[in-house]
Amino acid sequence: MHILITAGPTREKIDPVRFISNRSTGKMGYAIARCGIALGHKVTLISGPTALTPPDGVEFVPVESAAEMADAVHRLAPNADMLIMSAAVADYRPAHPVDSKMKKQSGPLFLELERTEDILAAVGKNKRSDQLLVGFAAETEDLEAHALDKLKRKNLDWIVANYVADGFGNDTNKVILFNSKGEQFPIRRSAKDDVAKQIFEIIFA
Ligand code: CTP
Repeated sequence: MHILITAGPTREKIDPVRFISNRSTGKMGYAIARCGIALGHKVTLISGPTALTPPDGVEFVPVESAAEMADAVHRLAPNADMLIMSAAVADYRPAHPVDSKMKKQSGPLFLELERTEDILAAVGKNKRSDQLLVGFAAETEDLEAHALDKLKRKNLDWIVANYVADGFGNDTNKVILFNSKGEQFPIRRSAKDDVAKQIFEIIFA
């Protein structure tokens, strides 16, 4: 299969030296990419900025912003049999990024933010029936309700859900997979490489 994976955070420019981002390390997405290669699949990894080395054998597409990630996904998605969207994409970006470094002034600064594209929702809308779409949900409460809502709203086949405290930034993860029939498959806390292996085992069972 040809598997397209998104991973890592995105960076949304404020000025030449500042950006808005999040705590994603990309470790889960890179573990999935490594596992996909080990299973003999063709893997394209679209990644925001991380400290990780791209796994040997992947087609690596580095991006920075949500808009760049969206462009890469829309360009490459038609060739993919399976899409696994683990990136922590910024939901908002500065509405008016500037090319000169902003100077501090007395008093507070208000940044206007605008929505970015929901890449996963767009892919879900245009998905072919022969494509398998897997999303992620990182939540701080009501894991099941939020995960099932995202699965339905974004037209996914599977969603991998975890509590932020269980996965974000860690070397281990503890997740629950939900499929479109509402069935649940918990994976107990394990190293992210092992979680990746079990995700493939559950989806391809
Ligand atoms: N995602 C995406 N594009 C965005 C935001 C999120 O493709 N602009 C994808 C992520 O890669 C992940 C899934 O959507 O697979 C869930 O992201 P999350 O931010 O948890 O969900 P949201 O739909 O943004 O919901 P909320 O902000 O309400 O939690």
